[in-house]
Amino acid sequence: MDLAMVGDRIIPLDSLDPVYLDRGVFFGDGVYEVLRSYGGRLFALEEHLKRFERSLAAVYITGIDISTIRDRVMRAFEQAQLADAKIYFHITRGSDRRNHVWKPDLTPNFLLTISPAPDSTAEKAAGIAVCTHPDWRWKRCDIKSLNLLANVLARQDAENRGCSEAILIDEAGMITEGSSSAFFAVFGRSIRTAPLTSNILPSITRQFVLKAATNLGMGLIEQSLTPQDAKTADELFIAVTTKDIIPVVKFDGKPIADGKPGPITKALIDGFRKFTIP
Ligand code: PDD
Repeated sequence: MDLAMVGDRIIPLDSLDPVYLDRGVFFGDGVYEVLRSYGGRLFALEEHLKRFERSLAAVYITGIDISTIRDRVMRAFEQAQLADAKIYFHITRGSDRRNHVWKPDLTPNFLLTISPAPDSTAEKAAGIAVCTHPDWRWKRCDIKSLNLLANVLARQDAENRGCSEAILIDEAGMITEGSSSAFFAVFGRSIRTAPLTSNILPSITRQFVLKAATNLGMGLIEQSLTPQDAKTADELFIAVTTKDIIPVVKFDGKPIADGKPGPITKALIDGFRKFTIP
């Protein structure tokens, strides 16, 4: 007899709610997106949908109509009535008994949540401390997949050490990105960040940061840096959809410059804000 046990309750496996058999739970077999709104307007919706489509294709989840996803996002956003919203959504390959090989006819599962975007005013004003952690992730970090255990472990380690973000270091000793953010350093009038390869996520916020930097007449250097380089930077910051740009004032316990958010980072925050208001 095929059985399942949920908590302490035994039931026939066939009568188990398919939600328990989601391949997203068994294998992290799915992809996701996070976007937000500013002042009642969704920000960079098309960029997020495009990346989502790319992630789906990369893991061979087929048959998803992106215009349906766009409609769902817009419908949830309208219904929630949140001016500054954070929207999370994912698609998993579907639900089935656990088997590494998937059946071709599975129905993908869609989940979306919408809630107020975090208020990052205090972090923007004071800056944050970050701690390094080995980058234990797989080799396709360009896919926004649900496999986030390595990110979660790094972020929790940072939290335990009093840091607001973990900065991931690859086997060559180079910084890849944050556990859930892109990472940037400012040297003089140039900003430096890792190039877009399969070892980092093509961050949407990164695109707008580079645009803001160009608008400010700054140089862009897409080249990885070491923790030692980071410690000697004039300024550091992270970038992520939910909070846009957050100054980093301490790196592995070492204050950056005078230990306060720097003028270039502040100018980029202002430059970024211009993209978010009509
Ligand atoms: N994280 N790098 C990683 C590993 C990320 O998880 C994220 C975003 C970013 C920044 O990407 P974007 O600018 O597109 O938000 C970079 C999301 C918000 C999360 O997992 O919650």
